Amino acid sequence: MTSLNFATTTIALMQPQDLPAVIEIERQSNSHPWTERNFRDAITSGYLSLVAREHGEICAFAIARAVVDEAELLLIAVAPSQRRQGVAALLWIELAQRLQITGATKVFLEVRASNVPARSFYASRGFSQVGVRKNYYPNGVHNGDREHAVQMQVTL
Ligand SMILES: CC(C)(COP(=O)(O)OP(=O)(O)OC[C@H]1O[C@@H](n2cnc3c(N)ncnc32)[C@H](O)[C@@H]1OP(=O)(O)O)[C@@H](O)C(=O)NCCC(=O)NCCS
Repeated sequence: MTSLNFATTTIALMQPQDLPAVIEIERQSNSHPWTERNFRDAITSGYLSLVAREHGEICAFAIARAVVDEAELLLIAVAPSQRRQGVAALLWIELAQRLQITGATKVFLEVRASNVPARSFYASRGFSQVGVRKNYYPNGVHNGDREHAVQMQVTL
C-alpha cells in the first residue's frame, strides 16, 4: 500500500519480497546488520516496517515497535548514494503519523555515540538526549572497545 507520494519518492509497508533490497541497504549502513531472519521476525511480529522507493527502487527503510503509548525506533537507513536528500525525513513523517494513529505519544531510540550523522538526523526531527547506556555496543569505532549508546526521545 502506497500511502505517501512526495515528488518521486513513495512510502509503503515493507513486504517479504522487499527484503533483498532492504538487506543490501542494511549491510551498507550498519556495522552489525540485522539478518534476514531479524527482518522476517519484525514483519511477522507486526512491527511498523516501511520502505521508501525512488523511481520504483527501494532506497530506504525504517522499523519501529509500538508498545501501548510508546514506540521504539529500531532501525532507519538510507542507501549511501541517496543520503542528504530528505528521504529519511520523509520516512520519519510517515512513521510518526502511523505511530500516532496506533496511540503512541512518545518515540525513543538508542544510537551509537559515534554515529554523528544519525544523532544529527534525530536532533533535526526533534529528538533530545535522555540518557546514556555505558559500554552498551560491542566493537566501537575506537580500537574495538565497547561503545556507549545514546538514548533519545521525542514526544509526538
Ligand atoms: C541517519 C540517516 C538515516 C539519515 O538519512 P538521510 O536521508 O541522509 O537524512 P535526511 O536527508 O532526511 O536529513 C534530514 C536532516 O538530518 C540531518 N542530517 C542527516 N544526515 C546528516 C549528516 N550526515 N550530518 C549532519 N546532519 C545530518 C540534517 O539536519 C538534515 O537536514 P539538511 O540536509 O537539510 O541539513 C542516514 O545517514 C543513514 O542511513 N545512516 C546509516 C544508518 C544509520 O546510522 N541509521 C541510524 C541508526 S539505526
